[in-house]
Amino acid sequence: MATERIERIARVRERVAAAKRRGLRVGCVPTMGALHAAHTAMFDRAREECDLVVATIFVNPLQFDRPDDLRSYPRDIESDLIVCEHHGVDVAFVPAVAEMYPRPPAMTVEIEGLADGLCGASRPGHFRGVATVVLKLLNSVQPDIAYFGEKDYQQLAIVRRLAEDACLPVQIASVETVREPDGLALSSRNVLLGRAERASAPAIFHALQRARDAVESGQQDAGKVVAVARQVLDEEPLLKLDYLEIVDPDTLEPVRSIHGPVRIAAAASYGSTRLIDNIHAAPLKAR
Ligand code: PAF
Repeated sequence: MATERIERIARVRERVAAAKRRGLRVGCVPTMGALHAAHTAMFDRAREECDLVVATIFVNPLQFDRPDDLRSYPRDIESDLIVCEHHGVDVAFVPAVAEMYPRPPAMTVEIEGLADGLCGASRPGHFRGVATVVLKLLNSVQPDIAYFGEKDYQQLAIVRRLAEDACLPVQIASVETVREPDGLALSSRNVLLGRAERASAPAIFHALQRARDAVESGQQDAGKVVAVARQVLDEEPLLKLDYLEIVDPDTLEPVRSIHGPVRIAAAASYGSTRLIDNIHAAPLKAR
């Protein structure tokens, strides 16, 4: 079946309400388009678990802290719709900016604490923009389950907290990070990397793996784990590290001494292209 393109909030709501009246379970995958295998992994998972799959495709101006980043963000709606079709997406909700923000919003969503560190520290307002648009998208589509990728781990934690605090009647499901064969996490920004940058970029994941190995071998001092991982990145002259941190998987608070499961997260830039990645790690005895 062809993917139905819907541009209006009222129409997508109607479509979903009609499906729910028939007892169907509705899954939603929010995206900013430029769809790749990490998105299609979420579509496939939604397809397995739900009867009606809605993808949202909306490049949200509110979450860009730099105008050049918003301008250069890859957009190709026609190929995105073909990808949707190939992966059994029933509805693509593709609102215009004026549909989502008919006027500058007087209400924005601030998730305290979770949004302050990691990417929040260097991208002021980014997570306010994410939380605000996710609330609006989930309110527009009203799915039973919404899918978010683990690559954006801080975003996932914030969306979970948003759903909890706002009593949203939606289950938030997480989908594992999809990687290139050399380990680089898939991202719409990868296409912006030059050849040498692309060749260097898997170092981010290798550094995280090195850190995970140290944690698994019993290193409890987070500072030492970070130092081991940074050695990998120090060998990459094109890469500028923003952060490499070990945090609590739920609160995202920095962990100094590792005694249980942690999340190791990193962000680095190649020129103006910023990449992020993270992995789970736990001392072997705590698994
Ligand atoms: O992860 C993304 O693509 C975006 O941040 C999201 C969740 C679709 C909100 O714009």
